[in-house]
Amino acid sequence: MINRTITGTTDTFAASVQVPGDKSLSHRALLFAGMAEGDSFVTGLSRGLDVATTAMALRTLGVEIGPGTDGEQVRSPGVDAWSQPADPIDCGNSGTTMRLLAGVLSTSHVKAELIGDASLSARTMARLVDPLEGLGGVIATSGGFPPLTVGGAEAVSPADIAIGTASAQVRTAFELAALGCIGSSTIDSPPGFRDHTERWLRAIGLGDWETRTRFRIDPGVIPPARFDIPGDPSSAAFLWAAAAISPGSQVVTPRLSINPGRIGFLEVLDNMGADVEIVVTDSVGGDPVGDVKVTGQSLHGVEVAGDLVASTLDELPLVAVVGAYAEGITTVRDAGELRVKESDRIAAIEKMLVALNGGISTTEDGFDVVGTGFLNGGTVETFHDHRIAMAAAVAATRCSGEVEIIDSGIAAVSWPDFYETLEGMWS
Ligand code: S3P
Repeated sequence: MINRTITGTTDTFAASVQVPGDKSLSHRALLFAGMAEGDSFVTGLSRGLDVATTAMALRTLGVEIGPGTDGEQVRSPGVDAWSQPADPIDCGNSGTTMRLLAGVLSTSHVKAELIGDASLSARTMARLVDPLEGLGGVIATSGGFPPLTVGGAEAVSPADIAIGTASAQVRTAFELAALGCIGSSTIDSPPGFRDHTERWLRAIGLGDWETRTRFRIDPGVIPPARFDIPGDPSSAAFLWAAAAISPGSQVVTPRLSINPGRIGFLEVLDNMGADVEIVVTDSVGGDPVGDVKVTGQSLHGVEVAGDLVASTLDELPLVAVVGAYAEGITTVRDAGELRVKESDRIAAIEKMLVALNGGISTTEDGFDVVGTGFLNGGTVETFHDHRIAMAAAVAATRCSGEVEIIDSGIAAVSWPDFYETLEGMWS
């Protein structure tokens, strides 16, 4: 296990950082390309372990993924000709790999077992069962958890499904599973989810919005394509937070996905008093791309609840850190989903701030941070959760004492050279 010690500073910085390719879009690009028959190309792919896990899984199904001229070339026989894997498919730490692949395989001819590491094996998969079985897909869980047994469906038929959480993973699993049905299906959920899959299906003419949240999937075959992946706003968020808690510091992160379901944290930072500028420059696969600049100011506590939670979900550990450096109380509610992420993030956030002598109390669906404007040093447990490790590193940049991050190497799940990039902003 790799640990890391970080020493805080009161020095300010001005940096411009091109963050690595978006993780959500990278998983999707590989899956879409793997489902299509023929040659696709992907540039800007995330170098994190989670996306490498999706690539490995596709290789076991007969998809070739290798270096191309300016990115990855994906060559596939198409989902209908995927081969039967000899062994269980290991999804590692990646919930997105397991859920999205379970969706595709559930209505396919391929029978597979999907397994994961200790953290993934403790994450609920029960939420996939009703939507996928609604299509006639085959999926069995182990008491609601991995391992999953999927695939070998005999008859699939369209379905209209509504799910109770704004989960892009469950929506995408259903949408990809529904493409093989004869006839259109629909899925609805509460708002705020990242709608990358819907935007892309719409762009290739395989579906459309019926309401703001209900999407229709039309049957069809995914064509091979070129995917130019923009930077990951959920990675950039760590750098935005580091600037926000350091008055006078500034970071520019060019060419990011600025899908509305991904940038709730910028609204939170703006509400707290940071200077936030977003410039839309482009669009890829129907998804907006742009540049973001965050400048630190003195901050005050805010409330994050309701629809804003889904679009801030992966950044809520950072909301706690920034809240600790603000004046007043920062409240998060309606975020029970945090309990079923790579760790129980509400418990992990509480332990992190307590270890750094911060003030926090928790509820079943959120927390209240008492912002005092400073944190001490300490030792932070990360529970094999990349976003907790990276949030602790951001907190550490302003701590009055040294911070030791246990199992800091888990950051490689999404961003292998995160610590060097973070610390490099001061040089
Ligand atoms: C993701 C969706 C979100 C997010 C996860 C990636 C995706 O999960 O937290 O990091 O790529 O679809 P949920 O679908 O569980 O909300």
